[in-house]
Amino acid sequence: MRAVLGHDLGHSFPGTGELFTGLDLEIVPGEVVALVGPSGSGKSTLLSIIAGWEQPRAGRVERRGIVTTGWVFQNPHGVARRTALDHVVLALLAQGGRRRLSEERARRIMASFNLESVAQRPFRALSGGEAQRLMLARAVALAPDLLLVDEPTAQLDMHTAATVNEVLAKIAQDNSIVVVATHDPHTRDACSRVIDLASYQATGVEGALA
Ligand SMILES: Nc1ncnc2c1ncn2[C@@H]1O[C@H](COP(=O)(O)OP(=O)(O)OP(=O)(O)O)[C@@H](O)[C@H]1O
Ligand SMILES: [Mg+2]
Repeated sequence: MRAVLGHDLGHSFPGTGELFTGLDLEIVPGEVVALVGPSGSGKSTLLSIIAGWEQPRAGRVERRGIVTTGWVFQNPHGVARRTALDHVVLALLAQGGRRRLSEERARRIMASFNLESVAQRPFRALSGGEAQRLMLARAVALAPDLLLVDEPTAQLDMHTAATVNEVLAKIAQDNSIVVVATHDPHTRDACSRVIDLASYQATGVEGALA
């Protein structure tokens, strides 16, 4: 069974103090887990630890059945002149799909992210929300074992962010483990489970008891 398990995780950088401590995780495919906490609480750091790119200072991460990892960052990054559709089709072709079938499948995926009407537009002509939804659609097409999404609405105004939050549940896939770092309460609400780093701050607990 594919899973990411974190055992008693803790991390700090020189000069940051403990970002989080005593964090146990169990994340399995099928859900969309929101990783929340204030700016600087260690959300992006924990994504890197989950990915295996950063070693936790304490505890350990167990990754079961994970070969491919995908990322969606806060700044949508595409190829200016390529159409929106191409971004998704190319992800499918890269996995060995045939042109016609890939295009059909890409159109279906894009429709579920409300991108039908912009499929033929070049990337540079997309709005911020469209571009970010396209990044999510492409991530779904790539179907990585582990999908990490960092602040998908950070650069967007409220209305545009809402169009991204509306489709967030659609990135859940039967076989992918999905974690979304965010401090947007609407993004959090669009996810199926929440891990709040504020609950794992050593100073937070002391503060609450004082
Ligand atoms: N490589 C590093 N070296 C030293 N300090 C770092 C490093 N990476 C992150 N930090 C610090 O660790 C803290 C947590 O950073 P992180 O990026 O994980 O926070 P975050 O919760 O994602 O914040 P935001 O919501 O602003 O994206 C911050 O104070 C940051 O400055
Ligand atoms: Mg961050």
